[in-house]
Amino acid sequence: MKKDCSKKINGEIKNKSIISLEQFDPKSLQTLFSTIEKIKKRIHKKGNFTPLLRTVTTLLFFEPSSRTFSSFSVAVKRLGGSTLEYQNPLQTSSVVKGETIEDTLHVFSNYSDLIIIRHPEKGTAQKAASLGLKTPIISAGDGIGEHPTQALMDMYTIYSHFGKLNNICGLFAGDLLYGRTVHSLIKGLAFYPNNHLYLLSPKELRLEPGLKKELSKSGIKITEIYDENDIPNNCQFWYWTRVQKERFNDLKQYEKVKNRFVITPRLVQKKGNNKMIIMHPLPRVGEIDTRIDSDPRAIYLTEQLQNGVYTRMALLSLVLGKL
Ligand code: NCD
Repeated sequence: MKKDCSKKINGEIKNKSIISLEQFDPKSLQTLFSTIEKIKKRIHKKGNFTPLLRTVTTLLFFEPSSRTFSSFSVAVKRLGGSTLEYQNPLQTSSVVKGETIEDTLHVFSNYSDLIIIRHPEKGTAQKAASLGLKTPIISAGDGIGEHPTQALMDMYTIYSHFGKLNNICGLFAGDLLYGRTVHSLIKGLAFYPNNHLYLLSPKELRLEPGLKKELSKSGIKITEIYDENDIPNNCQFWYWTRVQKERFNDLKQYEKVKNRFVITPRLVQKKGNNKMIIMHPLPRVGEIDTRIDSDPRAIYLTEQLQNGVYTRMALLSLVLGKL
C-alpha cells in the first residue's frame, strides 16, 4: 500500500514520514515540544536514556551537510540507536553503478527502521515517502523545497524564548527564494495567529510569489522590504540566511547579490532591541559580522545548535514510537 506522505500528523507522529511543515498543526507541535522537554529532563537527571536501543536509522545524504547530518547521527546514538551512514552516496554506494534512488531506498528500508534523506532535487523526499516502503522517511532538505527538521528546531527555539508562537514579529533576511529553511519556518509560523513577518532580500531573491500568496491566505502578515532602514525595531527574532551559491546557474548573478545584507554591530544597534534573538541555520559565508558572535542575543552558535539535537532526538523517538 502506498503511504500518503502529505498526511496531516494530527498529534500522532508514530510511523509518519516527515516531508513538509504543512503536515503539522499546533497540537502536533506541542506534542513535539513536550517530548523535547521530557528528553532534556531525562538526560539531565539520569544521563543515560536509550529508547532507540536495537533500532537502526539510515542517513542518506546526496547533498553536502555538516550540522544536519551530524546532529541526526548524534541524536540517534545518544538515544542508544545505531546508524547506517552515507554521505555522498553518488560516490560511495551502488548509485555509482547506476542504481536508481528507488532501488537504493528499497534496500535500506530492509536494513533499517527509518531513512533520513537529503537530496538536491525538490520533491525527492516526497517521492521517497510515496514508494510505500515499510520504513518512514524524514526529509533532511530537498533542494530549494523545504527543510522541515530545521524549521522544527527553529520553532522550538523561538517558543522556548518567548513562551509562545503567536503575536510574534520576526525578520527573515537573505536568500528567501532558494533558502529552504525559510520556506519551512514561515509555513510553521503561519499556523499561529497575529504573526507579522518582515522579509528582507535583494529583489532577485524574494520569496516565490505563489508561496507568498498561499501563506498570506492563512492570515499571516508578510511585509517585503528591500532596505535595511525599513527593518522595524520591535522584531523578536532576526533569521539571517546565506545566499545559496549552488542554486545559481549564472555565478555572475550570485556575485551581484551575495552579502547584500550583512548583520553588523551598527545594524543591531540601530534596528535591534534588547529582547530579540539572532538566528541563522548556518553555514554563514560573510552575512554575519563575527563581532556579533559574542552578543548574548546571537544564538546561532549555541542554543540553536543544541536545540537541533534535542529536536531531532524527540522527532526520532516519536516517529519510531519509542518513548
Ligand atoms: C541549511 C540547509 O542545508 O538548507 N543548513 C542546514 O541544514 N543547517 C542552510 C543552508 O545551506 O544555507
